Amino acid sequence: LIGDAERGAKVFEKCKSCHAVGPDARHKVGPHLNGVFGRKAAGLGDFDYSRAMRRAGADGLVWTIEKLEAYLENPKVLVTGTNMRFRGLKDKQDRLDVMAYLRQFSDR
Ligand code: HEM
Repeated sequence: LIGDAERGAKVFEKCKSCHAVGPDARHKVGPHLNGVFGRKAAGLGDFDYSRAMRRAGADGLVWTIEKLEAYLENPKVLVTGTNMRFRGLKDKQDRLDVMAYLRQFSDR
């Protein structure tokens, strides 16, 4: 994974209205994103995911780098019916950088 975590912190500004990370992170409009790498989609028991996201997780979708990148590029293409109201990050470097940033909050 070649991304710049520092730059990714700035890209994450686009996510912050809905997502938090870090020790004090709580759910907002979207779930907190601590530990997201390697976790199955809709894997947090205390967040009210869409039916589409719960089904994707049940079907085996796991947030690997590849799947996360696809979701961030176009959420509705990877998970049709997701209620994440975000048009996506069209720039590949933005996606790599925000993933490098998020990776700091994941053990895997
Ligand atoms: C879900 C990342 C922007 C709202 C998710 C998930 C990830 C993610 C990884 C899946 C979490 C899981 O399965 O536990 C991001 C990133 C963003 C971003 C990196 C910025 C680049 C946004 C924005 C909003 C939003 C701006 C609100 C307008 C949501 C919601 C879900 C979600 C509601 C749950 C989706 C569902 O249940 O179908 N996001 N997100 N996200 N996000 Fe985002």
